[in-house]
Amino acid sequence: MGNARIALLAGIVAAGCALAVALHALRSPAAGPTEPPAVPALAPSASTTAGPPAARAAAGDAPPDGAYGACDATPDGIGKRYFGREIAHFMSHQGIGWLERDSRESEERTSALIDALELEPGMCVADVGAGSGRLTLPMARRVAPGIAYGTDIQPEMLRFLEARAREEGVTNLKGILGDTFDVMLPEGTVDLVLLVDAYHEFEFPWEMTRSIARALKPGGRVALVEFRAEDPDVPIKALHKMTEAQARLELEAAGLRWVSTDARLPWQHLLWFVK
Ligand SMILES: C[S@@+](CC[C@H](N)C(=O)[O-])C[C@H]1O[C@@H](n2cnc3c(N)ncnc32)[C@H](O)[C@@H]1O
Repeated sequence: MGNARIALLAGIVAAGCALAVALHALRSPAAGPTEPPAVPALAPSASTTAGPPAARAAAGDAPPDGAYGACDATPDGIGKRYFGREIAHFMSHQGIGWLERDSRESEERTSALIDALELEPGMCVADVGAGSGRLTLPMARRVAPGIAYGTDIQPEMLRFLEARAREEGVTNLKGILGDTFDVMLPEGTVDLVLLVDAYHEFEFPWEMTRSIARALKPGGRVALVEFRAEDPDVPIKALHKMTEAQARLELEAAGLRWVSTDARLPWQHLLWFVK
């Protein structure tokens, strides 16, 4: 998508949510590959102390003892650890230009990633933490007449992605506003969940992984894509990268089973899990 079109869509989104944009503008730094725009940690929400996570814990569906912990917040983190990893701030919608940058194809080989998913017409798929929809749109085209969900916790991202789908005539893409602990997808309906550069930002990774598993059909697959923390040459901030070992530890702790690791992407791990 050209810069002028990105600016136009971003303008439409901004007009629809002027107050939110103004608030974010006070908090977000400029975009760039080593500086993904972030917002400060959310104030403790109801979900931290009550609501579905607490209700599920009471029902016996709780993260392993000691999995979560507090730490001193680093500039890119929220001061909360999961299996020793500090969770990163989520990237603000003001970083849409970075997600849509022209160099992304050569840096991340996004079209090779879409090929690796082996999508078929009629499938039901979800791009969780979809952002601007850079990956959701090509997924939707490949699975049509099936459904592609794009979920995010930022309404501004969903407005951008839906406006873009309308503009490009993609009618089988549905935006879903998720919660920080629940992906809000219909249970048992999804063949494949894609997570690109989003999982490490989940404030409640255990709860999110459980909700993703609930959304999957039996045998449904999860493709986890994260920048390689093992490689110092990948020019991304440390908290926005993950090692393969850490990723496997975390998703398996929440009940998914690792199947394989695909090494075709230049900067990122592509890890496959099943329900
Ligand atoms: C770095 S962006 C990546 C966007 C997209 N996957 C891509 O690669 O172009 C991460 C996105 O994850 C979203 N996110 C963070 N926590 C989330 C959660 N619990 N549920 C859904 N989306 C979340 C953020 O709002 C942000 O849009």
